[in-house]
Amino acid sequence: MPQPPRRLKRSLMNTGGPITPWGEPGAAAKLAECLDVDPEVRLPFTHGFHTYPARMHPHTAERAIVRFGGKAGAVLDPFVGSGTVAVEALRAGRAFTGVDISAVALEIAWARTRVFRGGEERLVEREGVEIAHRASKFESDGLPLPGWGPDVEEWFSPHTLREVGLVAALVDEVKRTDLRRVLRVVLSSILVRLSKQASDSVTVVDRDWRPWPPKATYRMFAEKCREVARSYGFLAKDLRERGVKATEPEFWLEDARAVKLPRGAFALGLTSPPYPGTYDYAFHHFLRYPLFGEDARFARSREIGPRREFKKGGDALRRYEDDMTQCVKVALDALAPGAPLLLLIGDGRFGTRDVRADDLVRDIAARLGAAVPAGASQERTEWSFGGRRRKKAEHLVLVAR
Ligand SMILES: C[S@@+](CC[C@H](N)C(=O)[O-])C[C@H]1O[C@@H](n2cnc3c(N)ncnc32)[C@H](O)[C@@H]1O
Repeated sequence: MPQPPRRLKRSLMNTGGPITPWGEPGAAAKLAECLDVDPEVRLPFTHGFHTYPARMHPHTAERAIVRFGGKAGAVLDPFVGSGTVAVEALRAGRAFTGVDISAVALEIAWARTRVFRGGEERLVEREGVEIAHRASKFESDGLPLPGWGPDVEEWFSPHTLREVGLVAALVDEVKRTDLRRVLRVVLSSILVRLSKQASDSVTVVDRDWRPWPPKATYRMFAEKCREVARSYGFLAKDLRERGVKATEPEFWLEDARAVKLPRGAFALGLTSPPYPGTYDYAFHHFLRYPLFGEDARFARSREIGPRREFKKGGDALRRYEDDMTQCVKVALDALAPGAPLLLLIGDGRFGTRDVRADDLVRDIAARLGAAVPAGASQERTEWSFGGRRRKKAEHLVLVAR
């Protein structure tokens, strides 16, 4: 029996260092509590469904909604990514609107916020296992290359790409729309692991790459379907036992700088914007675009502060500040009077310059005539500025108008 390749393709959460609250003591202490999470904790409910670069920790989102979201009212996340805040808003019984430029992100967030009732989550497992079973009857090498195969061919061994194509085609045949969409996200969740890509946020070939044995795709897909069905079961049980009436979240494929949100409609803004020059979201997802039929150009041309732009230098940092100022303005306008906007943002680097994200948010707020009454900063033990000993930090910052 061939052994699966030994590869470390987990998206590791960074280990948190000491937390420093700053500003108005009451609010700062609450922000510090939101950051004080166990990075090793097994992600509950549907939070572990799909990896995503720079996911918010679910306990940060959960605590922030409880401590800053008032007793009721809608929650807004203008950079929703894979939907951590969406899941926690759902669990808190809140209406929710999430915005992102990536259709991949929105589809993951949508899948993570499904509430199956009456044990229907088991259909995810049943359909998934059935697809894996049907697929495994074919000889992998004899399968056709999927239509989108040539775009990503060099990132897979030939038999694995053909297997992925077959699973995608069988998923497309699933009649029930919600199941079909969920199963597609399940396939997306194992795609990077099946490929040569080093990890979700490292878009280079893994040096330790070795091909998966034939039919590993099907085993992995079926296993993931079982796991996801269990997660849905936990989420539905949690809502049922706490008597929470879940509200269907809204997900908008829009640019956070220009999205037309209803004015004064939200009780809380809670979001983690792109960190300055740190990630390249539009590229991190490139293997997934064909699966979702996404036109990558939409996200690529609108992404704020990507690493690729910071590397070019020029006025990338100034553009990032301008773009973020516009996003914060749009978000503040959508909040009810006095409602807080919480930004979770990490430090970055621009050329030889350290970019402290807390200072950046203070500058942005000042430009908008808004206040930054408090924050909490946590040293990230695994990140440093330019390979030196000074550690980068992540900051949870309160902005209010
Ligand atoms: C730090 S991630 C959010 C992660 C999310 N909190 C989670 O837990 O999965 C930042 C997100 O901002 C999105 N983004 C980048 N530029 C954007 C823009 N102009 N408008 C809306 N979203 C944007 C990226 O696609 C990415 O999903």
